[in-house]
Amino acid sequence: MERDECVGSVAMREMAHETTDERTTKGAALRRTAGLHDHLMPKEGWTTRGCAVMRVAAEQRRLGIHVAVLGAAGGIGQPLSLLLARRGSELASLRLYDVANVAGVAADLSHVDARAPVRPYQGTSELADALHGVDLVVLVAGAARKPGMSRDDLFQINAKVVFGLATAVAQHAPNAWLLVVTNPVDATVPIALEAMRKQGAGNDRKVIGVTSLDAVRAKKFVGDAVGVDPARIMVPVVGGHAANTMLPLLSQCSPRFAFTEKEIEDLTTKLREAGTQVVEAKAGAGSATLSMAHAADRFVGQCLRAMQGAKGIVECAYVSSSVTELPFFASPVQLGRDGVETYLPLGPLNTGEREALQLLKSELARSIQKGTEFARSA
Ligand SMILES: NC(=O)c1ccc[n+]([C@@H]2O[C@H](COP(=O)([O-])OP(=O)(O)OC[C@H]3O[C@@H](n4cnc5c(N)ncnc54)[C@H](O)[C@@H]3O)[C@@H](O)[C@H]2O)c1
Repeated sequence: MERDECVGSVAMREMAHETTDERTTKGAALRRTAGLHDHLMPKEGWTTRGCAVMRVAAEQRRLGIHVAVLGAAGGIGQPLSLLLARRGSELASLRLYDVANVAGVAADLSHVDARAPVRPYQGTSELADALHGVDLVVLVAGAARKPGMSRDDLFQINAKVVFGLATAVAQHAPNAWLLVVTNPVDATVPIALEAMRKQGAGNDRKVIGVTSLDAVRAKKFVGDAVGVDPARIMVPVVGGHAANTMLPLLSQCSPRFAFTEKEIEDLTTKLREAGTQVVEAKAGAGSATLSMAHAADRFVGQCLRAMQGAKGIVECAYVSSSVTELPFFASPVQLGRDGVETYLPLGPLNTGEREALQLLKSELARSIQKGTEFARSA
């Protein structure tokens, strides 16, 4: 096929070698498709209708957003990849990368009736191809917690994994957004940004720690407590993403509720212990994967909308910022075409929230320093 020749015209050319019956059947199919296209897009000026349909599809793929999931064969990676594949024409392609078992996941997902091609890449020799030309990377590679472990206990394993993969992103997709899910997020985001900076890349506004599971859980727990559909609730969760660094700002819950002190304490504790509750319930088989995949997919969806120019997209995320004196902090940010567009202030805090914020800062500062030092000496 010549470079600029569309798939439709190749189909027409191939038809010249077919029997009359075969041609009639194929031609009817193409005409039906083209008729549908004319109905949906009547002003399109292509002369060959079947060709026009193919061209539109090819153009959508060219303009669409290429997404890579690193760690795609894992507990989060698999359901997240399914949810992303279902986004259909929002994606130009979905690249699935892992050190093991990714071919089967991609083969499985390539049968989902959605437009974006799903391709597997396995092992470091295929990492460059997985990342080349990608616009958005979701990093979910690394070990998950087992009972008795804190997120910080994962540092020894995951710091190296995140450093290596962020370095590769800087080398092969330096302008991509990098969404970091791998724990401990409080430290892995500083690692990822520093690793990219070492390669002369690393855009503060595009390296983003995904804390959306905290927001999803806060919506659910508050919704259930007050008897309102969780979908209608919005609670900013700020600080970091460890049990002792995350802080739900219940005074800013939307819609507003007059929580008692006891309710605030119970809801805050429930949120902070939610991850551990799942780890213990899974009894060694992993940590939150399905709710995390849902939360990450929603966050990716917001990023895709922002990349395509949608305005007013506000999410809480853990990013490099100057909202507080700490170099990284989870707070509401407005997303735009090139990552974080505006860092929104924390808003008015009540006395309890101000005290809790002071308490979490020292722990968060320690994790940030640990991550930054690791990356600088790596
Ligand atoms: N941000 C959050 O809210 C949140 C929530 C839950 C879990 N997590 C974290 O997400 C991470 C993934 O969790 P999971 O349950 O999917 O773990 P998992 O062990 O099930 O899967 C991890 C995957 O990463 C792959 N992997 C390991 N090293 C790799 C490398 N160098 N390159 C590519 N792939 C590699 C493994 O082969 C595996 O398929 C963990 O660190 C976990 O703590 C974060």
